Amino acid sequence: MRIFDLHTTPPLGELPDRMHAVVIRKDREGLPEKSMQVEEVALPEVGPSEVLVLVMAAGINFNGVWAAQGRPLSVFKMHKEAFHIAGSDAAGIVWKVGSEVRRWKVGDEVVVHCNQSCGQCPECNGLDPMACAEQKIWGYETSWGSFAQFARVQSQQLVRKPKQLSWEDAASYALTYFTAYRMLVGQAQMKPGDHVLVWGAAGGLGIFGIQLCKVMGAQAIAVVSSNDKFDMVRSLGASAVINRRDFGFAWKPNETADETKNRVDEMKRLGAEIRRQTGGKDPDIVFEHVGAETFPTSVFLCKKFGKVVICGATSGFQLTFDVRYLWMRQKQILGSHFANAYQAERANELIASGQIRPVVDQVFDFKEIPFAHQLMLDNKHKGKMAIRIQA
Ligand SMILES: NC(=O)c1ccc[n+]([C@@H]2O[C@H](COP(=O)([O-])OP(=O)(O)OC[C@H]3O[C@@H](n4cnc5c(N)ncnc54)[C@H](OP(=O)(O)O)[C@@H]3O)[C@@H](O)[C@H]2O)c1
Repeated sequence: MRIFDLHTTPPLGELPDRMHAVVIRKDREGLPEKSMQVEEVALPEVGPSEVLVLVMAAGINFNGVWAAQGRPLSVFKMHKEAFHIAGSDAAGIVWKVGSEVRRWKVGDEVVVHCNQSCGQCPECNGLDPMACAEQKIWGYETSWGSFAQFARVQSQQLVRKPKQLSWEDAASYALTYFTAYRMLVGQAQMKPGDHVLVWGAAGGLGIFGIQLCKVMGAQAIAVVSSNDKFDMVRSLGASAVINRRDFGFAWKPNETADETKNRVDEMKRLGAEIRRQTGGKDPDIVFEHVGAETFPTSVFLCKKFGKVVICGATSGFQLTFDVRYLWMRQKQILGSHFANAYQAERANELIASGQIRPVVDQVFDFKEIPFAHQLMLDNKHKGKMAIRIQA
């Protein structure tokens, strides 16, 4: 049985029988270092409109943490494969193409976006592939993700690798950057001059939220949890910076009446600090992905007629907030989920032209994929983490 060594570029298009992969199995779901283990597995078959990519580098995302833990939902409830290869970000080389693939050829250097859809339904062809009944996030709701030497993807998932980037940088940005692009440019229709409150501004989504604000002439108000992240978010273009640990606005379950009153007072104090730093402006848009702890504050702080755009809930999915602030001040809550291929392409052009840049904090080796996910779970990382696979 042939298997390629890691960190080598084999002869173009040559295929081994098996590959090294970091695999999650149902019976070991739990902390990443327990559930994610290196195994040798057979290569997947490639369908007519699919592509096999030699993975040069992969990127770490929060969905790998969810997949490892089997929470809030086991990945084995989302697909029928016997094992799960996570990883929703990759940069690599097209190694094999299906019989119907026209836009890509063996040898093309690519970045992979993580949305899969059927490509045939009216939603895919007229509304948005994100509305497809079969829409799935590759490497999370499907197996055969990027934490392996080869990844199986739909050909529509490919965008060209920006020439100036290393493999590690190229593998780091697609999932969070394209998500941030749809949130701000698509769903929230951000405009020049808008003020945008960006939670988790030094995290995977936040680093791109800030940069998109700058490119589009909006002002990012960056929230982080320590002063040592201030320089980083300012260098990405934030015009105001706040340490969330200086305020006690976080929502907690089973609050007493006194605790609720204190929390609301702290929300108001945070609002005053934002206005102090912005010359009296409240956020037109709040960039939300933290969920339970921050959502009541997001709805409260958002300007009259403003928008809270949300794509995740790291701190909890059940959201409690005072709806009077929503209806009396005519605000909108907008759900957003990843991006479609057109948005991915447009966003990628801003990377290719150097207007938006990847922010890779740490690069790890293949065997350190579980460790990198533990760092993410413990919120001990900044920016993005990348993994060298064949690079
Ligand atoms: N729907 C989608 O398409 C989509 C796409 C990407 C991500 N997501 C979701 O969005 C979330 C964030 O993803 P990410 O890649 O940006 O993760 P990340 O790199 O871990 O960054 C998240 C940031 O949020 C901040 N944070 C964590 N807990 C917080 C809390 N309790 N209160 C306030 N801030 C908190 C942290 O920054 P500080 O500690 O510095 O404040 C952290 O850096 C995850 O839940 C992920 O699953 C969804």
